[in-house]
Amino acid sequence: MERVEKKLHRLKSNQILRDLCSETNFSVSHFVQPVFVNESIINNEEILGLKDNFVMSIEGSIKQIDSDIAKGVRNFLLFISPQKKSSKSFNLGFHQKVISSIKEEFKDDINLWTDVCLCSLTDHGHCCLFDNNQSIDLDNTLKEISNIALSYAEAGSDIIAPSDMMDGRTLSIRKTLDNKKFSMKPIVSYSTKFSSNFYGPFREAASSAPSFGDRKQYQLDYRSKSEAIRASIRCAEEGADMLMVKPGLTSIDLINEIREKTNLMVGSYQVSGEYAGLCLSEEKGLLNLNESLKETWHVMRRAGAQYIITYGARLAKEMGF
Ligand code: PBG
Repeated sequence: MERVEKKLHRLKSNQILRDLCSETNFSVSHFVQPVFVNESIINNEEILGLKDNFVMSIEGSIKQIDSDIAKGVRNFLLFISPQKKSSKSFNLGFHQKVISSIKEEFKDDINLWTDVCLCSLTDHGHCCLFDNNQSIDLDNTLKEISNIALSYAEAGSDIIAPSDMMDGRTLSIRKTLDNKKFSMKPIVSYSTKFSSNFYGPFREAASSAPSFGDRKQYQLDYRSKSEAIRASIRCAEEGADMLMVKPGLTSIDLINEIREKTNLMVGSYQVSGEYAGLCLSEEKGLLNLNESLKETWHVMRRAGAQYIITYGARLAKEMGF
């Protein structure tokens, strides 16, 4: 394994990031709110199952972030869907416009995380490119993913968050960023990401459902613990600054072990299906959404999560976090 320089300064570069990384308290600083922007959208469209979460235009997302800032949220995870999909060459003009528009508006008041993946760009909806035999074309996939990460960094993204689960992507992105003078941009890898049934509402929102097969060739098998731990160790060795487990509740048993083995902070992603389950149950009068969310967040934190990505981040402050 090639060594990359570890820079502890990367996670110290601004107050929002330092608050996110403080380990001894638990507050709205530790939450990350996903934001969906789609090139084809004019008026906000509510995402099925995810109460108060919308697919938005650039203008819509700026209004939303503004109101979320008033609710104490400072970390936003951006998912961008372009109008045009392709199987090999990708135009990132819209992506760059979304990122730079948001950053120009809010500057250093927020940390803008960008999900780096191919699934919303490819016409087949997979997180990779394929060769002529329908096998994963890893070399070209890593090249594209690293280029995407670089263009997001150039547009002003504060945190690069690769979610593709391709072998070697963290190292490839790190080297690409370092070569282009972005050696201070943190990479937060989706390091232990299972092939899960709980991503359903998201795939609708990000228009990223695979048109054939599934993602089991590259996402993790929920039956295997050692592989799940190894995947995070791999990202740590490749130079990730923080790690992530996903889905949230189905991965809580892994967090502490990953923390101990890597000495890196590990966050938990409460994914769309987990969140929708609670929203829809409340809609049917079966439970109280806020109280149930509070319970799940405390359990993730108890299990060792440093930060929590959740569709309810904007509710956290009024719930007392
Ligand atoms: C893109 C990506 C996915 C999610 C985050 N980034 C979908 C997937 O891998 O299929 C899921 C998030 C959620 O369900 O809330 N690769």
